[in-house]
Amino acid sequence: MAEIRADKAGTFAIGGDLKVTRLGFGAMRVTGSGVWGEPADRDGAIATLKRLPELGVDFIDTADSYGPDVSEWLIKLALHPYGDVKVATKGGLTRTGPGVWLPVGRPEYLRQQVHKSLRNLGVEKIDLWQLHRIDKKVPADEQFGAIKEFLDEGLIAHAGLSEVSVADIEAARKVFPVATVQNRYNLVDRTSEDVLDYCEKHNIGFIPWFPLAAGDLAKPGSLLDDIARKHDAAPSQIALAWVLKRSPVMLPIPGTSKVKHLEENVAAAEITLSDEEFAALDAEGKKAFAEK
Ligand SMILES: NC(=O)c1ccc[n+]([C@@H]2O[C@H](COP(=O)([O-])OP(=O)(O)OC[C@H]3O[C@@H](n4cnc5c(N)ncnc54)[C@H](OP(=O)(O)O)[C@@H]3O)[C@@H](O)[C@H]2O)c1
Repeated sequence: MAEIRADKAGTFAIGGDLKVTRLGFGAMRVTGSGVWGEPADRDGAIATLKRLPELGVDFIDTADSYGPDVSEWLIKLALHPYGDVKVATKGGLTRTGPGVWLPVGRPEYLRQQVHKSLRNLGVEKIDLWQLHRIDKKVPADEQFGAIKEFLDEGLIAHAGLSEVSVADIEAARKVFPVATVQNRYNLVDRTSEDVLDYCEKHNIGFIPWFPLAAGDLAKPGSLLDDIARKHDAAPSQIALAWVLKRSPVMLPIPGTSKVKHLEENVAAAEITLSDEEFAALDAEGKKAFAEK
């Protein structure tokens, strides 16, 4: 079998200087059910994390709220000192139980969480820190102002946002340089198409979460299934290859707790869709999204 390497996906420089391989890893799944507590197979989760640098994956996305803390702890356990691996984390969502996520954007809370993530990850500066959600109960500028302070104080090297609109990004950019935006996006969820176009225009990294989804498009006998067969690939690999081809600022972070699934996802970097295949899938994805 050919060597599986993420770097075949090419690179992107976050904030102009944090160079990462475009196919990253989402570390939300190395936790328990409901993204709560320890993973069911702790050894398997640690093995998955350790496999990342061997496959050329050098960009990991996590959050203080995954576990909470468990994901950051396991990343440190498996990969510290990080070498070429860059770890992005997030703050601004509290956890009051499994499956429960409540935004808190008060500056003193965000500051506490940045300091906790520094400690959890064992670093002096966080490569990329993202506001997990803008808290509607707190003036947005207070949250953006806190992020500007974290940057100015050198606690974090770059900052980003998550689940935001173009208007949110424009408001934030008046206060601090927005290096990344992390919104849900995949072949069949095109809600953030305008945000992606905005990011591409302004060279902001766009981190699509849930990038493997293909919904009903993956049914046997479908166009996606047909293209997958031609490439001797799984439909989820084709969905990922499509996401990667969609934009040069695209930084997908498929997540898993299993080495086998990780290797399958990284192998998608190898797949090059033709322009015709890309356009046909694009049209089907848009149609499926419009009909939802
Ligand atoms: N900013 C936000 O609000 C937000 C929200 C959600 C997620 N995220 C981030 O985005 C990352 C990815 O999102 P996601 O985990 O929701 O979506 P995803 O990566 O598209 O899908 C993950 C799911 O697919 C399974 N899976 C992964 N690879 C597979 C494979 N090759 N074959 C079969 N099943 C496979 C995983 O289970 P197994 O463990 O069994 O493989 C898991 O259930 C997260 O890890 C997190 O870092 C951000």
